[in-house]
Amino acid sequence: WRSFAIFEGLAAEPIAMLDAMAIPRRWMAGETLFQRGDEGDYVILVHQGRIKLSLLTANGRELTLRYAEPGDILGELSLLDGQARSADATAAEAGEGLVLRRADFERLQARFPDIAGAMIRYLAGRLRDTTEQLESIAMFEIEARLARFLLLTLRQYFEDDIPETPQLRLALNQSELAAMLGASRPKVNKAIQALEAARAISRNGDVLSCDLERLMLIADPALQ
Ligand code: CMP
Repeated sequence: WRSFAIFEGLAAEPIAMLDAMAIPRRWMAGETLFQRGDEGDYVILVHQGRIKLSLLTANGRELTLRYAEPGDILGELSLLDGQARSADATAAEAGEGLVLRRADFERLQARFPDIAGAMIRYLAGRLRDTTEQLESIAMFEIEARLARFLLLTLRQYFEDDIPETPQLRLALNQSELAAMLGASRPKVNKAIQALEAARAISRNGDVLSCDLERLMLIADPALQ
């Protein structure tokens, strides 16, 4: 349980309560866990596998908000405000996790109020990520968006210690990247070529070798 950010510092007693309340759940690759507009009174805690949270936009394109990874929770918005699910949740790969229902979460929170604080910090982190994504899509051209996404991924992977020429195995194909970046696949393809031409990245299969300094220049055109 402590591998989930919102339960990090929990003592033995609430952990025992969680054990008694949570319902194990498995999913297959491609399975829809819930859809935007559904009613939902539970969160899913991801143990294994990645789950895509996305929207189908009015023009038929997909916008990916985030991939929930092991240690993440999803479905917390409907759990907290009682409104309909705000996005689709689709398993990007087979996996497993735990389901925690609203009534149980509320019982837990009533006895251990620190959990509410941890949930607020979790939501603050998500809102910060959304601000970055919104800024990227609204303010940056696709090459800069791609460079910013790669830098974010490098930061998540290497934390504060990114080497000058890091290597990165991208878990996303070009269509999935396009849905993350709010662009079409051909545009993403062109942007990849532009980054290669600028020698900010080079590709070898699905492994990218990156040049940190060049990526940063492309990510922030004001620096150029
Ligand atoms: P809920 O609205 O219950 O169902 C969809 C879930 O997608 C939502 O809870 C969050 O877990 C997640 N979600 C919705 N919007 C975002 C966003 N902008 N960034 C990250 N995750 C989101």
